[in-house]
Amino acid sequence: MEQASSKKLWGGRFSENQNELAAEFNNSLPFDFRLGEMDVRGSIAWAKAIGQAGILTAEEVEDLCAGLEKVGEELSAGSLAFHPGDEDIHTAVERRLGELVGAAAGKLHTGRSRNDQVATDFRLWVLQAVDNVSADLKVVQRALVARAVSDLGLILPGYTHLQRAQPILLSHWWLSHFWPLQRDCQRLAELRQRTAWLPLGSGALAGVPFAVNRSALADSLGFEHPSPNSLDAVSDRDFAAEFLFSAALVGVHLSRLAEMLIIFSTAEFGFIELSDAYSTGSSLMPQKKNPDPLELTRGKAGMLIGLLTGLLATIKSTPSAYDKDLQEDKSPVFQAADNLRLMLPVMAGLLGSLKAKPQGMQAALDPAMLATDLADYLVQRGVPFRQAHHLVGQIVRRSQGLNIPLDRLPLAEYQAISAHFSSDVREVFDFNRAVNRRKEIGGTAEEAVLAQLAEARKLIEV
Ligand code: ARG
Repeated sequence: MEQASSKKLWGGRFSENQNELAAEFNNSLPFDFRLGEMDVRGSIAWAKAIGQAGILTAEEVEDLCAGLEKVGEELSAGSLAFHPGDEDIHTAVERRLGELVGAAAGKLHTGRSRNDQVATDFRLWVLQAVDNVSADLKVVQRALVARAVSDLGLILPGYTHLQRAQPILLSHWWLSHFWPLQRDCQRLAELRQRTAWLPLGSGALAGVPFAVNRSALADSLGFEHPSPNSLDAVSDRDFAAEFLFSAALVGVHLSRLAEMLIIFSTAEFGFIELSDAYSTGSSLMPQKKNPDPLELTRGKAGMLIGLLTGLLATIKSTPSAYDKDLQEDKSPVFQAADNLRLMLPVMAGLLGSLKAKPQGMQAALDPAMLATDLADYLVQRGVPFRQAHHLVGQIVRRSQGLNIPLDRLPLAEYQAISAHFSSDVREVFDFNRAVNRRKEIGGTAEEAVLAQLAEARKLIEV
């Protein structure tokens, strides 16, 4: 079975029919049907614009717009039946429009190419995806702030190299995952601006030969500006790459949070417990409660990175202007957006429903984590920090040799290493005190964390 090329939008110059597999290979409808709503919006705006340029009568514009509205309704109701000859969503919309309004449908494509049409539709789709991801990010940010509020006062070890380092407030740790997401929101807002340049009116590559007011057209579709160069407008997919980069970075940020929550939820750490609603069991081991949503989050970050590198490889070296390679731009973007639409709300729900386990955190507070504070004690007594570091290192070694924790090591042992130690050295061994000493902007002291929390709150209220 071969398809009649004469029925194709471009069939005029062809005498042979298209090979069936080649047609299937060419067909983007299985994925670009998702641009349907955007294609209808873009087409309505285009009908009005060429109407104003004198290409269509007011009546034709009205008929086309009514027809397109109807196509839009059918698309959203899922009642628009696609035909084998519909090689992409643009073809399907135009074909259906013809069935609804007759010959006038054939005038809609005046001055327009699918090259500027698809670039427009896709930008509109990405703009919407940016708004969705930004809204979902805010939900996770709110969940982090809510945790920071409800867990105020809890202290846990802060880690570097996954080794106990210094005590910190759990709220400070939660907020350490808030700020990366804030930067992700900013990144999305910035790429939104770069996406909001309208390609429509660029034609196939050289521009539109009719008096279309592209600034008004941009405005009517919610774009900020008409694109300044028709070739560039139909060629580049940098906005899609930027979206995928932002998505990948959101994935990376979520994966870091997920990884730590997995570690914190182990019996070995016992700092948190996930709710049943966000855990999964084992088909074999009845006792298991697995953090699957967190592991999936960690794993999907890898996939998101792959989508970005895949698209970059697709657009690399494409000769100007439109090349069919560019049809491959949509699937990765859809896939990234679809995954984030689940990853983000799941993370928010998981954060809201987990339980902090104060005893587990308390039990992990090793006095050795106050060694830096011991060095600071000597610094306050005039010892240069490098020397203080060395002396405290000796004390740590001694405490390990004697198998006595630092806070219970006899004063005489301290004094044998430095005469600067006196009985008030005991005051160093207070985790609250250690935390609250770090009260300058950005520190873990409760005072500083409260100020940080106030800043974070301002950002999620908008
Ligand atoms: N389905 C195509 C795509 O997504 C539409 C543009 C087709 N343009 C062309 N010159 N064949 O890229």
